[in-house]
Amino acid sequence: MTRYTALLLTFLCAFAAASPLLPAFFKFPGTRSQNKPISGDSPLQQCDADEKQLLDIKLVNLLPNPPVRGENVTISAAGYVKDTIVEGAYVDVEVRLGYIKLLSQTYDLCEELEKNDVDGLKCPIEVGDYMIEKTVEIPQEVPPGKYSVVARAYTEDDDEITCLSGDVYFPAY
Ligand SMILES: *[C@@H]1O[C@H](CO)[C@@H](O)[C@H](O)[C@H]1NC(C)=O
Repeated sequence: MTRYTALLLTFLCAFAAASPLLPAFFKFPGTRSQNKPISGDSPLQQCDADEKQLLDIKLVNLLPNPPVRGENVTISAAGYVKDTIVEGAYVDVEVRLGYIKLLSQTYDLCEELEKNDVDGLKCPIEVGDYMIEKTVEIPQEVPPGKYSVVARAYTEDDDEITCLSGDVYFPAY
């Protein structure tokens, strides 16, 4: 073994030993978000799980899971809202198809709830337990591929309400 190989091995071992500690020292921009599984049958995870969030998501079910192009999908979810959510809350949504960013947009949370009639849910959303169900049709025209979605909701004061992320794969046939 040459000196250099030994040096390299030593370095690699030291790096491997220290790597579990690395996230504590550095906040890598791309790996900042901690994911946590959500109970139920869905491709969604809770992201930013190490951040304080106003919504405690207890369950998310997608029927069918995975969703199918040209068919209806019903999403049902249960959660606990820890603090009243009022007008001014917003959602940042990002959708990627493979590596292509398809959409990066901010929506008014209260406005979207009214527009899309999510079980009649309306702002202000008071503290308490909620269970919602919503059916949407996935157009047949949606291009096949692997979609990655991240949605982060915030109050007007930029307190995080929730962070959801997930991958959905639509096969060509
Ligand atoms: C989806 O559900 C709606 C309302 O229940 C229904 O009118 C529509 O035909 C359904 N679409 C499909 C593709 O099953």
